[in-house]
Amino acid sequence: MAAGLFVVFEGIDGSGKSTLTKAIWDDLGTQALLLREPTGLHTGKLIREKLAAPNTMSQKDWIQLFSDDRALDVEQHLTPALAAGKIVLMDRYYYSTAAYQGQNPPDLSALQIVQSQQALFPRPDMVVYLEISPDAALSRLGSRAGLEIFETKSQLERIAKNYDSIIPKEALRLDAAKPVATNVEKVKKAIGKKVPI
Ligand code: TMP
Repeated sequence: MAAGLFVVFEGIDGSGKSTLTKAIWDDLGTQALLLREPTGLHTGKLIREKLAAPNTMSQKDWIQLFSDDRALDVEQHLTPALAAGKIVLMDRYYYSTAAYQGQNPPDLSALQIVQSQQALFPRPDMVVYLEISPDAALSRLGSRAGLEIFETKSQLERIAKNYDSIIPKEALRLDAAKPVATNVEKVKKAIGKKVPI
């Protein structure tokens, strides 16, 4: 049986990452599985409640919530799908924890978080990073109701800087300003070099 392929999509809020991931999934059909973090499991629902309202949760507690959600998703969805030979498209993974929860000392940096997450969870075969400036991302988000706690300019600037320090050199970097169809083709080409599609 085919070994499967684990593809992770990352980018700041407003980058269009979820739209792109969904478009690729629609294109690939049943050979692919779309997963998303935070998940729809009880662990993910708890996170979405916390994201919707200001709170004073510590860095350690945020990392724990995302890690608990990830552990369940890996066990229940990711590992079985890869074993069945699927192409798994994961909308956010541990690079999000590193970029969003990474802070200045004495807190953990993005790099420290990514290293500890790599010891806990399977590594992706491919990382796709959708690049956009925080200003352009905010103007896209501006038309949406109910912004979440990380959706401010200073937060997005911190998160984009963190991403730059941790996204692997070999990642496929895409320009979020390009049409979705253009980026779908680029990702499909990269996937096609690794597995038959
Ligand atoms: P979404 O906008 O892609 O649905 O993700 C929800 C929010 O959760 C988004 O602002 C990014 C944030 N997030 C983290 O802060 N840490 C994480 O580990 C993940 C997976 C998401």
